[in-house]
Amino acid sequence: MGRRDFTPADRLMGTKIFLRLVTLQDCTPRYEAWLADPRVNRYLETRWRPQTLEAIRTFVQDMLDSPDNYLFAIVEHGTQTHVGNIKVGPINANHAYADVSYFIGETDRHGRGYATEAIRLAAGFAFDRLGLHRLQAGLYAGNIGSGKVLESVGFFLEGVFLGQLRNVEGGWEDHHWYGLLRETWEALRDGQPTSDSG
Ligand SMILES: CC(C)(COP(=O)(O)OP(=O)(O)OC[C@H]1O[C@@H](n2cnc3c(N)ncnc32)[C@H](O)[C@@H]1OP(=O)(O)O)[C@@H](O)C(=O)NCCC(=O)NCCS
Repeated sequence: MGRRDFTPADRLMGTKIFLRLVTLQDCTPRYEAWLADPRVNRYLETRWRPQTLEAIRTFVQDMLDSPDNYLFAIVEHGTQTHVGNIKVGPINANHAYADVSYFIGETDRHGRGYATEAIRLAAGFAFDRLGLHRLQAGLYAGNIGSGKVLESVGFFLEGVFLGQLRNVEGGWEDHHWYGLLRETWEALRDGQPTSDSG
């Protein structure tokens, strides 16, 4: 599947939420407020630069133009509200892997299983439709919730880079790298034990 085969009209349907591409229409003061909210940006690299509406629009347009990135909006089914984003990319086509990153910007929607479902949908897209072999995600060691969500989808903690990140308090924090292979994803989907689960 090529980048242009997934259009802004396409959907990845879950039960509580669905994913669609983020477009310029999504670049609202609400999106800007998410990235300024310390509960949301504490563990996001966006916090290093001011996230003005103009900067957000430039980023979204870059993602729409990029052959190596899919920036999805996480949309709540019932209310059709855009509550956060999840990105598959950049994709390394030579080695068939991609990074995955995400946030739920609407903090009153935390703890409803939205991130878990969004990561599952993104993983299904990456493995089954893009044909990737590996997904990976890096996070601050203190981001307990994000680690739990990844593990519940089937990711494994593969590596710890000691003191690699500077946290909001100015202290040094370990960088945790999680990975998920297509074989593991398929085994979980088919209900088989995974080779690396022991
Ligand atoms: C981390 C984040 C994505 C989790 O999203 P979410 O939609 O609230 O997560 P879910 O509801 O799918 O939670 C799944 C599991 O993780 C647990 N969890 C979520 N946040 C947690 C937290 N802060 N501390 C402990 N556990 C947490 C939930 O209890 C749930 O566990 P359970 O299935 O055993 O009940 C969300 O809090 C967020 O966007 N945070 C700010 C941005 C961010 O950190 N992004 C990730 C960067 S790596």
